[in-house]
Amino acid sequence: MKSTSTVLPTSAGAGAPLIRLTGIRKSFLSEELETRALDDVHLEIRSGEFLAVSGPSGCGKSSLLSILGLLDSPSAGSYELNGQQVAQLDNRARAQLRNRQIGFVFQAFNLISDLSVEDNVALPLSYRPELGRAERRDRVAEVLALVDMAHRARHYPAQLSGGQQQRVAIARALVGRPSLILADEPTGNLDSRNAELVMDLLQTVHRDGATLCMVTHDPRYAAMAQRTVALFDGRVVADLPTAALQPQRQPAEAL
Ligand SMILES: Nc1ncnc2c1ncn2[C@@H]1O[C@H](COP(=O)(O)OP(=O)(O)OP(=O)(O)O)[C@@H](O)[C@H]1O
Ligand SMILES: [Mg+2]
Repeated sequence: MKSTSTVLPTSAGAGAPLIRLTGIRKSFLSEELETRALDDVHLEIRSGEFLAVSGPSGCGKSSLLSILGLLDSPSAGSYELNGQQVAQLDNRARAQLRNRQIGFVFQAFNLISDLSVEDNVALPLSYRPELGRAERRDRVAEVLALVDMAHRARHYPAQLSGGQQQRVAIARALVGRPSLILADEPTGNLDSRNAELVMDLLQTVHRDGATLCMVTHDPRYAAMAQRTVALFDGRVVADLPTAALQPQRQPAEAL
């Protein structure tokens, strides 16, 4: 796996809280029925951390990631990102922060079918007029090489395997050099070989300095994180270093 230095350090500095959620609530109203997806969530994520988020279907994992990724707003509570109160930002500042600081990877890849691989990857940079054409081209080539997809740059998503599509989606998430990567079950639609390739990539990005917050149902991949937060019914019910969640070795095995 090639290494990369594409990830910028955050202004919060190593180990400082990059994210601070206080009393976050998220409610959805439909046909007079209120669903509380998140209920009084308190969470701090330090710069450079690799955090896994787990919990049963419907417990609020994707809702949490959408709020962290500025794709959605909480119904109540405060979200501080890199020392900034997100609620105080206007739409333009939010969009800019999302575009420059955050990379999102989805379970369903979410590539645009009528754009080529390289145009999909270049898309986040189209909102960055300050980057010249040559810089954009170089960055796209760099991240496509990182995910080992340079040979498919002119292909379209439908011409790729699921694992290849997810690698392109990771390249798209990285091309803006974000400090925070949010991944919502990035291996959920992949066989184990491709899932391992994707996890290798995410681990490389984390080692290079990015903060990584990943939703996963798979204990093997959660075990790669430094810390696991478990949600249940919209609440944080456990927040532990991952090592504490590993089964204890039996003395006979340790010999
Ligand atoms: N746009 C929406 N409108 C109404 N309810 C919603 C909406 N989005 C999520 N919900 C509800 O909020 C709750 C949490 O959903 P969420 O998608 O965050 O769960 P999840 O933990 O990601 O589940 P899964 O593991 O199945 O992906 C669920 O009860 C869901 O039905
Ligand atoms: Mg989900």
